[in-house]
Amino acid sequence: MEQYIIKGGNPLVGEVEIGGAKNAALAILAAAIMTDETVLIDNLPDVNDINVLLDAIAGIGASVHRIDRHTVRINGKGITNFDIEYEYIKKIRASYYLLGALLGKYKKAVVALPGGCNIGSRPIDQHLKGFRALGAEVEIEHGKIIAEAEKLVGKHIYFDVVSVGATINVMMAAAMADGLTIMENVAKEPHVVDVANFLNSMGANIRGAGTDVIKIRGVRSLHRTEYSVIPDQIEAGTFMFAAAATKGDVTVCNVIPKHLEATIAKLVEIGCEVEEFDDAVRVVSKGGLTSTHVKTLPYPGFPTDMQPQIGVTLALCKGTSMITESIFENRFKYLDELARMGACVKVEGNSASIEGVEKLSGARVSAPDLRAGAALCIAGLAADGITIVDDIVYIQRGYERFEEKLRGLGAVIERVSTEREIRRFTLKVS
Ligand code: EPZ
Repeated sequence: MEQYIIKGGNPLVGEVEIGGAKNAALAILAAAIMTDETVLIDNLPDVNDINVLLDAIAGIGASVHRIDRHTVRINGKGITNFDIEYEYIKKIRASYYLLGALLGKYKKAVVALPGGCNIGSRPIDQHLKGFRALGAEVEIEHGKIIAEAEKLVGKHIYFDVVSVGATINVMMAAAMADGLTIMENVAKEPHVVDVANFLNSMGANIRGAGTDVIKIRGVRSLHRTEYSVIPDQIEAGTFMFAAAATKGDVTVCNVIPKHLEATIAKLVEIGCEVEEFDDAVRVVSKGGLTSTHVKTLPYPGFPTDMQPQIGVTLALCKGTSMITESIFENRFKYLDELARMGACVKVEGNSASIEGVEKLSGARVSAPDLRAGAALCIAGLAADGITIVDDIVYIQRGYERFEEKLRGLGAVIERVSTEREIRRFTLKVS
């Protein structure tokens, strides 16, 4: 298994280009099959999850032409199979976006049930509630979701839970339903807005994305488009917290500062200097950071996908910080690993208290999930000595060229997979 090996202590300094938003791109790729015409999508992040979903789309008969690492041309006309195999869902949950896309266009979809994952049980009851409200018959048999409808008819749908996935999945199905659909208590994340903008560029009629109420007038067909995915606010925030934790000076480029408001607010609260530009944000930390409290919330609140990153940073902030994780029920596992690096943490239910320490010490740690893995790398970059992060396959699912971008900022980090390579790195840096 590949690992990252890191020699901590270098402040991160410089500029880093941020890629396209993984969580927007996954939904946009699924929605791209809703037309028989050709769709060109660029600013895709070149990460494992994107590549797996492209395989799933090709696997049901769409033509998928990767023009370069960040650009793909898709034509869904050749789709004959509406059955998404478990092998894809097992690799990435977001394959379930093909449910909404296939149901919307073909009024039929069979997708393996996604399991839970490392951060929680992650049910999909709100997705199914939305499809049924539009008139689909939805059955679960032998681990598969079978959804079909004579036709889909617009309805007034009130979600019981604010869900990014359910909002996007039902929005896709409603885009080609008959009549008006009103969706309330919806997610407002930038990637929800990006998917709505993408669908509208294909001729859909979706209004209100980014607010609490989305109104959709169904259309009979969608057409070709060329579209560029928005920048990844979570990748950007990850590098911003890495700057804070390493007493660095980092400018994240090609971002939308408005999408980073909750992150910027917390960085300022703990004592960082933050400067905003049109499409960049600069974060400077001279050390002496102080504690704060944070509660993860749906957008525009503080994102749950940034919780591990602020968690490792707060471990180095003077005073006692509190984190409340209100979205997922199991997203503090990384704190056990952080404690092995000398952090002083205590988890009680969905809250964690973190007593800031002067220094973390390098250790061998394991990445329990995508964002926690990136956060443990931040801890290693700030720690004394050498840190080895195992199971980096998680990190590669959502971060493109992660170690290269960190090295570009002065980090001493390499990807290794043998004890011999670990010894060689240790000798080289000692
Ligand atoms: C998306 O997951 C993201 N994944 C997650 O990012 C992100 O953490 C999450 O949104 C919240 O922002 C993608 O976009 C591919 P939810 P999603 O439905 O859609 C409950 C990453 O690191 N819920 O908004 O699955 C659910 O249990 C990943 O990139 C229901 O109860 O999240 C959770 O408590 C990790 N019933 C809450 O809602 C449902 O039908 C929010 O989940 C659906 C969700």
